[in-house]
Amino acid sequence: MLSLALFLLTLTLGSQSNEAAQILGLFQHPGKSHFDFFRPMFLALAERGHNISMYSYFPLEKPVANYTDFVFEGMPLLTDIVDLKNFESEWMLLGLPFKVPTFFMLNDWGLRSCRVALNSPLITQLLESPIRYDVIILENFSNDCMAAVAHLLKAPVIALSSCAIMPWHYKRMGSPFINPVMPMNFLPYTDEMSLIDRLNNFFHFHTVNTLYNLITQPATDALISQRFGPGLPPINDIVKNTSLMLINQYYALTGPRPYAPTVVEVGGLQVGPLKPLPQHLLDILDRSPNGIIYISWGSMVNTNTLPSAKKKELFQSISQLKEYNFLMRWKSEKSMHKDKPSNLYTFDWLPQRDLLCHPKVKAFVSHGGLLGTTEAVHCGVPMLLTPFYGDQFLNSGAIKQRGFGVIVDFSNFDADHLVRGLRTILDHKFADNVRRSTEAFRRRPIPPLELAIWWIEHVIKSGGAPLMQSEARHINWIVYNSIDVYLFCLAIVWLLSVAFWKLIKGIGSTFKRGKISRNTKTKKQ
Ligand SMILES: *[C@@H]1O[C@H](CO)[C@@H](O)[C@H](O)[C@H]1NC(C)=O
Ligand SMILES: *[C@@H]1O[C@H](CO)[C@@H](O)[C@H](O)[C@H]1NC(C)=O
Ligand SMILES: *[C@@H]1O[C@H](CO)[C@@H](O)[C@H](O)[C@H]1NC(C)=O
Repeated sequence: MLSLALFLLTLTLGSQSNEAAQILGLFQHPGKSHFDFFRPMFLALAERGHNISMYSYFPLEKPVANYTDFVFEGMPLLTDIVDLKNFESEWMLLGLPFKVPTFFMLNDWGLRSCRVALNSPLITQLLESPIRYDVIILENFSNDCMAAVAHLLKAPVIALSSCAIMPWHYKRMGSPFINPVMPMNFLPYTDEMSLIDRLNNFFHFHTVNTLYNLITQPATDALISQRFGPGLPPINDIVKNTSLMLINQYYALTGPRPYAPTVVEVGGLQVGPLKPLPQHLLDILDRSPNGIIYISWGSMVNTNTLPSAKKKELFQSISQLKEYNFLMRWKSEKSMHKDKPSNLYTFDWLPQRDLLCHPKVKAFVSHGGLLGTTEAVHCGVPMLLTPFYGDQFLNSGAIKQRGFGVIVDFSNFDADHLVRGLRTILDHKFADNVRRSTEAFRRRPIPPLELAIWWIEHVIKSGGAPLMQSEARHINWIVYNSIDVYLFCLAIVWLLSVAFWKLIKGIGSTFKRGKISRNTKTKKQ
């Protein structure tokens, strides 16, 4: 089925007109959900005859032709590792969400994975190999050290982002950032912000951006010069050579934003063709005349760390909604099964995309991760969202604003809020709204995977899409914000005012002198 879709993709894009390119993927971040968004692009490129060399933590389960995996080692995969007890109390500053600590978490992960990847023998082999690459595709997230490897290999660079782009990505792409309508990644805001929200948004955007430039980039430069010796340009200059950025956003879900032409929204590209569900799930669906509610907090959260009081509330809400059966991704552990309600079925893993599109699935209880929510929007399933960390607040805010779901904060995570939230989204009026938004999400001039492939091949053919590169990435802060122009205009206004004042004074005094001399003349006579 997948290969049929890829075959159709090949037909639509007109294959064989391109020569096969050598494509290098460099992904040092060990987050599975990120890579789940990237992989479909590489599979489609391989199918189109390009030769993929993939450096990552996520080898293919079944090898395919034209795709060679090189697997990094030395970082734990970020699966089932997040402890929910960390989110029992939220950081606040003056009663407002305070998410600057998230930066330090990302900074730490980024530098650790960077150190491991740079010092991997795979990178030595890569740099010594005679293969020349036509394009290098890497991830733009919490660290840029792979861009230094790309710089040494001298090929056009494409960056991918599996989430909304970070504050430090705008400048390098020459893409504008309009603070009042563009909420910062870690905040629960939308493009409708009060003055106080806008102050907090401004504070977060510029603080986190400055911290990245003052902490992460110098530390990355240090790691790079440890590995490759001195002499490379600063990483902040290297990243300005990014020809294109493909991002997991789409305005129908995440809100309209102005981007430079080098930043392309391809949100939803990972939603592949529908596959049949396994029999054991079909059996449960058959036994659920009123439908199923699907619960998943993504691949990173370890559900066994759900505090026991909150677990009790969750189970209570599930028992209260007896007319539905619940399916939940829950890494199995013996302890939970004692008090589990009879209408809750747990699984280590569930085929999320195929499940969500099954007509029996009526609602999705989610953490607001971008893969699951995109799939739910694609399938038209309303959501109850409990964001925990990172961009989940931003995604949840957008989903609520666009009428796809409701938010139950982790601090309100009790049977009362859960049952009320679920009853709201299960109402047929809510479902109508979701259906409309789903249509907007699906109706596109070109499907997102095809669009991504078109752009990647365009960068290859044009040698880095030089005509698209904006000068905005090279000019300094003063010029970028027209501060020099304002100062110049102010200077002219000031000069004109002074000149005018002098003139008035001059006329005044001539007039006075004239009067005085007339007076003296009169006196003399
Ligand atoms: C691999 O690439 C060749 C061209 O180099 C192409 O003909 C073939 O279809 C590709 N195979 C697969 C399985 O993608
Ligand atoms: C494709 O890439 C692999 C891995 O880098 C390399 O070993 C192989 O020689 C390449 N094949 C072609 C036809 O270029
Ligand atoms: C940017 O790319 C150009 C052309 O590929 C190259 O000449 C230049 O050295 C690169 N600059 C940096 C800082 O990587």
